[in-house]
This record gives sequence, structure tokens and C-alpha cells, in this order.
Amino acid sequence: MIRNLHDIIPPVVIGHRGYRTKYPENTLSSFAAAIAAGTDMIELDVTLSRDRKLVVIHDDTLNRTTSGFGPIHDMNLRELKRLDAGSWFDSRFAGESLPTLKEVLILAGGKILINIEIKSSAWESGFPEDAIERQVVNLIIQHDLLNSTLISSFHAGFLENIVGLPVHPEISFITDRKVLQNTLDICKQLSVFSWHPHYKSLEQRHIEEAHAQGIFVFPYTVNLVEDMRKLVSMGVDGIITDDPVWAGSKPALLAAHAETGRVCQNIF
Ligand code: G3P
Ligand code: MG
Repeated sequence: MIRNLHDIIPPVVIGHRGYRTKYPENTLSSFAAAIAAGTDMIELDVTLSRDRKLVVIHDDTLNRTTSGFGPIHDMNLRELKRLDAGSWFDSRFAGESLPTLKEVLILAGGKILINIEIKSSAWESGFPEDAIERQVVNLIIQHDLLNSTLISSFHAGFLENIVGLPVHPEISFITDRKVLQNTLDICKQLSVFSWHPHYKSLEQRHIEEAHAQGIFVFPYTVNLVEDMRKLVSMGVDGIITDDPVWAGSKPALLAAHAETGRVCQNIF
């Protein structure tokens, strides 16, 4: 089990929203299952409630993954906590609630590496005292998890603010299906630990360019063994997968990796 990001030996398995194929995404049961399965890292999404608390959920609305409706940002944590975030997936998970980031850190801290994605919709200009990125960093520091957490976002503004803080964890830049010309320049300027591209956007030259800068490449969301094998043969350093036990299983990843032996010499 890897407890320090700097001890990573590629390739690593990252459970997208926990263990999403078998458990309701972004819930404590999903994260506990990913930990139990021996996954290297969990990924989760965080946003702010109306009363500016850190809530773990992917969508901007409650409609798909809870018993509630409407935007998350319109409800206080107390109201959000009353919702059922498990039944939509399977009645076995009835009563599962939306976790706060603190609850996830208590459950998973020290047991697994944690990738906290800050949702772009929580962006605020002016970097207020209780801005989401500041709250996330403070919570990580309070829980003594600086070495085992990675903060990622599609929104580079959050990452810029984080690297300006006196103490902060490692960061990652996420990109969608378009890899812009300046993506790797942004990664370099921000001194990111890793780049998380959409797996369909990746080309070999991108990986080589990232590795030349000492940047790990962790594509998302890789759910088919054949895609995983192809990406590992291209030299990625891990995969973000909904199924950390089957499609993204460590033995399968290591076997594919052994055939190619490509690694990133990450410079910390
Ligand atoms: O961090 C990788 C992945 O989670 C980004 O996309 O929409 O699943 O949060 P999304
Ligand atoms: Mg995410």
C-alpha cells in the first residue's frame, strides 16, 4: 500500500469516484471498497454547499445521484445530509449520504492516496478567505495528509491559487478530449505532479513531452482492458478507472507494463 505520493512506482490504479462500477459513486461505501480492494489511489469530486461546506459529489445538481433535485449550491449541508445518495444505484445502499470531504479524509487518510478534484463550477474570482481551494488545502493540512493527497482540476485558476499558498499538496491539471497546444506549458508553469488527460485525447508525443518534464500521466476514464493495455504500452504512469478491481486491476496493469517497461523519472 502506497502512503506517500513520492513513493509511487508506476503504473498505479486510481479508483474513479471510488469503486464506481459496483458502488454508488463518491460515497463512503465506494471509497471503503476501493481501499479494501487494494487500489493505489481514490479520485473524488468536491464542491461547495450553500453554506460553503466541502461536499463530495460529481454533478452540479442533485438529480442523478441523490433523492434530491436542483443545484447543490442552493442547499445547506444540513439539508444535503438528509438526502439518499445510495438508492439510485441499488436499494442495498439506501441511506448512504453525501459525504463531506472531512468524512472521506477520516475514512481514507493514511490508508490510500487521495486525488481530490475541485469542480470548475465552484470557481470564484478574488480568492476569498473561504474559497474552496483554500478550504481543501487547510483540511488536508489539518489531517496531516500533505504527502498523500493530490488536488486536481480542469480549472487552472484553482491550481494557480494553490501553488501560491505557503504550504500546499501536489497538484494535477485535468484536460478534456481536446489537448490544447499549451496544455503541457501550463503543466510545466504550475509544476504539476501529474497531468490527467481524457484517454482518447492522448498521443505518444504528449506522454514523452510530459515525461521529459518529470510529469506523471494518469488518463481517465479507462474501463476496458484493451484500452488499458494500449495506454500502458504508450507509457502512461497509471490509469483512472471506474473498475479498480477488474479493468484496472494491478496485476493486469503490471503485466502490461512489464512488456514495455516505460517509466517516468518524476522529479520531485
Ligand atoms: O479526474 C478525472 C476525472 O474525474 C475528470 O472527469 O467529470 O469524471 O470528474 P469527471
Ligand atoms: Mg472527477
